[in-house]
Amino acid sequence: MQAKEIKKDIYWVGVKDWNLREFHGYATPRGSTYNSYLIMDEKITLIDGVKNYMSSEMVARVKSVTDFSKISYLVVNHVEMDHSGNIPEIMKLAPQAVIITDNAGKMALEAHFDTTGWNYHIVTTGENISIGKHSLTFMTTPMLHWPDSMMTYVKEEKLLFSNDGFGQHLASEALFAHEYPLDLVINEAKSYYANILFPYGAQAEKALNTAGSLGLDIEMIAPSHGCIWSGKDEVNTILNLYAKWASGKNEGKAVVVYDSMWGATAKMAETIMAEFQDAGIPVTKHCLTIENVSEVMVDFLDAAYICIGNPTLNNQLFPRVAGFVTYMKGLAPRNKKALAFGSYGWKPGVVKQIQQIYEELGWQTVTPFECKYTPKDKVLIELRERVQELIKL
Ligand code: FEO
Repeated sequence: MQAKEIKKDIYWVGVKDWNLREFHGYATPRGSTYNSYLIMDEKITLIDGVKNYMSSEMVARVKSVTDFSKISYLVVNHVEMDHSGNIPEIMKLAPQAVIITDNAGKMALEAHFDTTGWNYHIVTTGENISIGKHSLTFMTTPMLHWPDSMMTYVKEEKLLFSNDGFGQHLASEALFAHEYPLDLVINEAKSYYANILFPYGAQAEKALNTAGSLGLDIEMIAPSHGCIWSGKDEVNTILNLYAKWASGKNEGKAVVVYDSMWGATAKMAETIMAEFQDAGIPVTKHCLTIENVSEVMVDFLDAAYICIGNPTLNNQLFPRVAGFVTYMKGLAPRNKKALAFGSYGWKPGVVKQIQQIYEELGWQTVTPFECKYTPKDKVLIELRERVQELIKL
């Protein structure tokens, strides 16, 4: 369990959670990492903790460089338990360490743990602390994605410790993005944004603006999940993608999401997809029987048109469709045009529940489309016409 140097005197001391396949309903087929960092300087500084069940690995990596009794500061950028779970153990090993966090971070730590005897240095945006030959500048990023979220910048190395921001659920031997297929790292970063940060586009834009107004010159972004973005090209790539995703602008694509019991809603989904294709609009189709909600949400970032289809079960939304729309509503995508569709046996009307969610999200909609039992050719022609109405909105 050795630390790995990422810059002179700055070490990765995190852990890789190879077996993680689920994170609060978000499928993580490539596992995840909880990245912590150690800065060796006059005031030795640890940046963030890890999940409690992986604490021993992180502790061993820190001990491969220094003793906990020599640590002066523990920077807590974010208190969600994947980064704070082992902070009680860190504070037992390094009771002399002063916790650097913002007000929200202190309150969150006190709400999670017995913090008796812990000492704090509370920081605000723009505050600077010298730890020797390095200095730390702090930028609070509230609601990106918890009230207690902040980032830490090391001016001398042009290095930003961004915590959840710019992260990816990805376990690999690669520490740096260029050591892994870059398109896969970007896809995981996109999935991370879509499933964690989607509701907070305004906060992401504000953070990007604050970084600009603080004059942060960034050549390396070290997030707390996944690979490190290293060099101007990689840094600019991920910064530009975040600017695009945070803006809420899309690429005009279409997404069809559905589930089906006896094939009726599936047939409607295929017809809707065909109509988009005939109109020259790129479209993806997702069946919730086989796909996790988080895989579907990635395509929402690029979509202008959303069509969600439901097979009625006992006069209710089908459970997987209900689960999806609940998850999707929480992520609150903006600026969509939408159609609710579905099938029923003897009582219509359930798709109005999907329509209501569209309206709560402020999306433009067309009249929901329902079919009794199996859709015949005439019904499918009418459905195509409804899709044409949607495209014209
Ligand atoms: Fe990776 Fe919000 O914790």
